[in-house]
Formats: sequence, structure tokens, C-alpha cells
Amino acid sequence: MHLTRLALTDFRSYRSVDVTLEPGVTVFDGPNGEGKTNLVEAVGYVAALSSHRTAHDAPLVRHGARQAIIRAQVHDEVHDNLVEVELNPGRANRVRLNKAPLPRPREILGILRTVLFAPEDLALVKGDPGERRRFLDDLLVAMAPRYAAVRADYDRVLKQRTALLKSAGPKSARRQSRETVAATLDTWDAHLARAGAELLVAREHLVDSLRPHVTEAYAAVAGDGRGHAAIAYRRSFGSNGTPGSYSERLRAAGEELMTALAEVRDSELDRGVCLAGPHRDELELIVRGLPARGYASHGESWSLALALRLASFGLLRAGREDPVLVLDDVFAELDSGRRSRLASLVSGAEQVLVTAAVPDDVPPVLAGARFTVAGGSLRPAER
Ligand SMILES: Nc1ncnc2c1ncn2[C@@H]1O[C@H](COP(=O)(O)OP(=O)(O)OP(=O)(O)O)[C@@H](O)[C@H]1O
Ligand SMILES: [Mg+2]
Repeated sequence: MHLTRLALTDFRSYRSVDVTLEPGVTVFDGPNGEGKTNLVEAVGYVAALSSHRTAHDAPLVRHGARQAIIRAQVHDEVHDNLVEVELNPGRANRVRLNKAPLPRPREILGILRTVLFAPEDLALVKGDPGERRRFLDDLLVAMAPRYAAVRADYDRVLKQRTALLKSAGPKSARRQSRETVAATLDTWDAHLARAGAELLVAREHLVDSLRPHVTEAYAAVAGDGRGHAAIAYRRSFGSNGTPGSYSERLRAAGEELMTALAEVRDSELDRGVCLAGPHRDELELIVRGLPARGYASHGESWSLALALRLASFGLLRAGREDPVLVLDDVFAELDSGRRSRLASLVSGAEQVLVTAAVPDDVPPVLAGARFTVAGGSLRPAER
């Protein structure tokens, strides 16, 4: 698939911009702070309904404006879809598909699929486990949009169960006795186990599919013979899963989570936090047999971060149309070897959108259309 048009109104630094895009490579260059990342952030938002830079929508709306609108024309083998996303911080966002309003924003997921590489990706390797869980969940949704509902369901149950645990805690204003809370907790344990099992078995399945892609992509980016990378899913409770069919694993995971919740209940009530479930699981990243976080060198960490994104691309394109690749300012971060290896790995994709402050950082194999971003507008770059 590819984008044929991107139009922004009051998005980030843009009052109004409208750009026509072609398949193949498009490079956006221009000085720092002129709005290159803002453009591709909008592309990522249409695909994931979230930004790779901020957890909240308010910074996405131009300072002084009340709402932002992103319009994207998405062309694939079957459709030519116009997606419109209206961001209304503090109120519900709205989406339209081919001018028709959709009941819920998440129904737009899947229309545009992207894989976005950004300097922030280093946090996938060096950051907290939450970064890696988000990586997996975002990829799950990109693979199958129905997981947006699974994820939202789990988050809702977790929030409510945590509120209940807190209500029994010593700091609660409306403190309830443990006995009163216990009866209600039994029901929430069952909800959490059901929703949690669905999320975590899906993640485990995803990690199994992703693993060979990560190993292969790491070797390709780092250069052959420069170490082996692997990934593993580590549950925060019980055993690390049992073999069997998907439904057997789902049932077993739910039962194990129920057992774990019973075991930790007293500590949970003491601390007012939910201590078992996929919100505490970890995606382990391993380089040369050691955990990447804390052990891998800076360059190895970068290669691994790139490998995770390339692996996502490999998985998303398998048997389907290519997602749109977005490379936000990544070449500046890499040495020349990694730069050219990455460039040749992505150059065959149906559409690649690249941003760079220094045009010469972009390897020649990614020659294509070029725009210079400056002063809130885009113009075809001088060659
Ligand atoms: N909500 C907003 N309203 C107005 N301006 C904003 C808003 N959010 C960000 N900006 C401005 O957008 C600019 C940053 O744009 P962006 O991150 O796209 O730059 P860039 O071209 O990618 O730069 P670099 O080369 O440094 O990565 C900053 O000057 C920032 O002040
Ligand atoms: Mg930038």
C-alpha cells in the first residue's frame, strides 16, 4: 500500500499543508525544527491512532488551535481510501472513512499500515519493559486490528481491579474492609484472567513469529558475524507457557493467571497494585547470549532496535501488501556501514518516507522524490 496524499490542518507546527505522494522513496529534508518529523508523525498517527513521540494528543494540535485534522489518501490493491482523523484534545476524536463518520476511531485501524523507525526506538532496547510491551501490542494491532479491543479491554479491567485493590488500602479515603473487597475481587480476578490470557497468548504467538525475523534482520543490519540476536517472552507469573493448540494455551494461561492472582492477593491488598498479568510481562532482548538492556553496546542496541522494526516490516508484509515505511531521522544516528545496510534492506519497499536534516546522510540507494521543509511549507527540493 502507499499514500497518495497527506493533508494537515493545525497539526503540530502546520497551519495547513497538502502534499501529493508517489510510491517509492520520498525524502523530506530541511533544517532542524522545521517540521519534518511532524509530517511523518501524522502518518504514524493515522496508522496507529497514537504518536511515537507523545502519549497525549494535546501537543499534536497547533498551539492556539482547538483541533487538528489529518487527511490521508491510502491506495492499496483493492481500495483507494480517504481517512480523516479529527483530534480534539479533552474530547472524543472523530474519524471518517471516505467522508462517512465511523462510530469509533479504532475502526480506522488497518486501513493504513506503517512501520516507523525513529530515534526514540533506542528506548525499545534501553528503556523500561513498558516500551517493549507497547511495541508488541502495537504490532499485534497492526497485524490484526481486532487486538485494539482486546488491549482496551485488558486495560479497562486492570484499571478497575487496581482501583478496587486501592480501596482496601490504608490510604484510601473510603476504605473498605478486606472481606468486602475480597468478594468483589473474585469476579475481577476472573475478568483479568480472561482478558489477560487473551492478550498474553497473542503476544507469545507474535514473539514466536517475530523471532526468526529479528535474528535475520539483526545479522543483516549489524553485519554478518557480529553477534546473534534473539527474543523471548517472559511472563510475570507461573510457568512460561505450555505447548498445545492456541485454545489450549489460552485456557491454561487463564488458569495459571487465576492461580497466581490467588497467591499474590495479600501483597496486592497491602500495596494496592495488581502484581500478576501481562502488564508486568517482559519481552526479553538478547544479544550474544546476554540481555541487551544493561549489556549491549550502543551500536548493538541500535542494530537491535532497527532489527525489531525491520522484523515488524517482514512480518507485516508476509503474504500481504507492504506497509508504508517511515524512517524518521535514523541515518544520522548510524555509522556508514549500518546506514547503507539499512538503506538497501528497505529500498525495495512499496513506499518509503524518509526525513533527514542533512540530505547527504541518506544513502544514494534511497534516491527518489525530495521535498524541503521550511517555514511551515514544503517545496520540491533543489537538486
Ligand atoms: N503543537 C504545536 N504547535 C506549534 N508548534 C509546534 C507544536 N508542536 C511542535 N511544534 C514545533 O514544531 C517544531 C518541531 O518540528 P519537528 O519535530 O517536525 O522538527 P524536525 O524538522 O523534525 O527537526 P529535527 O531535524 O530537529 O528532527 C518545533 O519548532 C516545535 O516548536
Ligand atoms: Mg525530526
